[in-house]
Amino acid sequence: MVLKKEIIFKHKKNLETLKKLNKDYYTDDNPKVSDAEYDKIKLNALEFEIKYPYLKKIESVNDLVGSKPTNKFKKFQHLSPMLSLSNAFNIIDMKDFQKKINNFLNYKNKEIEFFCEPKIDGISATLIYENGELIRGLSRGDGTTGEDILENLKTIKGLPKKISSSDVPDLIEIRCEIFIGKKDFKKLSDKFANPRNAAGGSLRQKDPSITAKVPLRYYAYGFGKVSSMKFKTQKEFLELINKWNFKTNSLSETVKNLEQIEKKHKSMEQARSSLDYDIDGLVYKVNDLILQNRLGNTSNSPRWAIAYKFSAEKAVTKIQDIVIQVGRTGANTPVAKVDPVTVGGVVVSNATLHNEDEIKRKDIRVGDTVIIQRAGDVIPQVISVDLSKRKKNSKSYIFPTKCLCGNETRKEFSKSTQKLDAVRRCFQGYGCNFTAKEKLKHFVSKEALNIDGLGKKVIEQFWNLKLIREPSDIFNLNYNKIKNLEGWGNLSINNLKKAIKKSRKISLDKFIFSIGIRHIGQENAKTIAGFFGSISKFKKIFDLEEIKKINKNLLELDGIGETQTNSIKTFFSNTINLKITNALIKELEIENFMPNTRSGIFSNKKIMFTGGFKNMSRSEAKAIAEKNGGKVLGSVSKKLDYLVVGDSKPTAKKINQAKELNIKIVFEKEWNKILNS
Ligand code: IVH
Repeated sequence: MVLKKEIIFKHKKNLETLKKLNKDYYTDDNPKVSDAEYDKIKLNALEFEIKYPYLKKIESVNDLVGSKPTNKFKKFQHLSPMLSLSNAFNIIDMKDFQKKINNFLNYKNKEIEFFCEPKIDGISATLIYENGELIRGLSRGDGTTGEDILENLKTIKGLPKKISSSDVPDLIEIRCEIFIGKKDFKKLSDKFANPRNAAGGSLRQKDPSITAKVPLRYYAYGFGKVSSMKFKTQKEFLELINKWNFKTNSLSETVKNLEQIEKKHKSMEQARSSLDYDIDGLVYKVNDLILQNRLGNTSNSPRWAIAYKFSAEKAVTKIQDIVIQVGRTGANTPVAKVDPVTVGGVVVSNATLHNEDEIKRKDIRVGDTVIIQRAGDVIPQVISVDLSKRKKNSKSYIFPTKCLCGNETRKEFSKSTQKLDAVRRCFQGYGCNFTAKEKLKHFVSKEALNIDGLGKKVIEQFWNLKLIREPSDIFNLNYNKIKNLEGWGNLSINNLKKAIKKSRKISLDKFIFSIGIRHIGQENAKTIAGFFGSISKFKKIFDLEEIKKINKNLLELDGIGETQTNSIKTFFSNTINLKITNALIKELEIENFMPNTRSGIFSNKKIMFTGGFKNMSRSEAKAIAEKNGGKVLGSVSKKLDYLVVGDSKPTAKKINQAKELNIKIVFEKEWNKILNS
């Protein structure tokens, strides 16, 4: 006879699996199994539930949030990337934002006008109109490629399928936020946790007639590609499209200074609960489009806009335990396990304590009653301790000096700050099981190998079963063992095999990023890949004698400093790292780095700047050079084509070096002339 306890355990396990699959699909947009497999898992769970009716009282399969995944949509590349926004959490962050803009434009405290709009917590989409006709509608996707959800978008009330105005450009891309009103959401069946998920789920329905039944709404807030611009400011743009019958948010307005920004912020934060849609902050955009264009973007977000989020949501809870988590760089991070508590609609049971110093400063102890805060998408953190609730016998937390792997941890001395790092690290690399597992997670992440169906959880599962220990193991998996694991079927295994096979072909920059050298992020990996060009040249770095010479050359590259070269040296001086990297190279087909050779006046030219300019900041000068095909170097060498000298305090040594090497020197006046030509 099967024990009731065991039956309940199995039922809970079934629900857990389904919840995870729903999360993969709805929240992470990363389904791990096929539709058919999902159906099979769900049906099995339901049959089990029906067999033992008392299980329904615990939680029923039919009550789970989210429904079965649909087929994939066709993908299209965006005409211009759909970026995200950087966040501000207080007025100091906003001041900083203003300052950065002024610095970039080389303005001395000029008052810049911002256009302020509510930031709706919905799903973004882009609508492409050709000769006024709506011809394509895409979801954001990963920002570069979106999914074709045109038919679903067409079901949204008041969303123009045609712009019948004589002043419409041949091509215009309108960006908007799709959402469900709070009242409408309440009327919907309780299939979704919140309006945002409901809007996302409805937009992803394969059958547009189902989408049509959901009261989706939208507000247009921006533009992507436009063939001819007939507006000079964000305000004018919104007024124009409003005339074309697009819905725009009437709570938007221009603001000029910090005082007005804070006033608007406070009044909207108060009005927030009375609005019929969820907003999580306000977006501030530089109103003047010429300035927006000058400011441009960083790799992920525009420099001309920011999301000023409303106050973080807080909650009171109790620390059950403090545990150590090891990151891929060996960082030992303390995490508080807290009594589960809802913070802003999300159940939180972990909160970061940052590092040893932070725990000491706040004297945080196990058993303490604390306030935790969840701001935006960042990990919840412990803000303060309620000392009045502390038990007399409570003891200070003693931070372990050994990593979970048993090896000693230590704090590094930072040359630049002349201080000890606040973070304790384990320096065993792949020699530490905990660091190694995190390194593997980094290896398969979206920005690195990006293997569909092989996310963090699967790495965890495969690691625990000793199926993988280092990156090359991923290419030699024992599928016979995987076949017998819960949640894995023939279809998902075939998909995984396909995805792994596809990932073998990788560009040199992604390879360099994926091996996880500390301080070598995506940008630096690109710079280094540009320097070596091919894996055969890169492999010279494995020779300790060569590293010294190579590092000297690498130091000339923009963005590479001693922190990076020291880290490269440490990484390749480690024999385990060498062995692992070599084994990995054997499995991969590493493509030569194709520099993003942009056409333009500085195409393939190497440029260096010294001194300040009157009309632009150094950052803007650099951005202009790069936009026009140039590469900016950080020191004078034979490779340099131009040394551009600003009138304000140039370095004489650099000019002399350039003269000695016969490098063309361009003075500020000439630089401006080139830019205007
Ligand atoms: S402007 C370059 N304006 O927030 C990005 N975004 O974190 C420009 N959002 O993907 C975005 N309301 O989905 C902008 N008034 C608004 C917005 C808004 C909501 C969303 C949008 C975007 C995300 C950025």
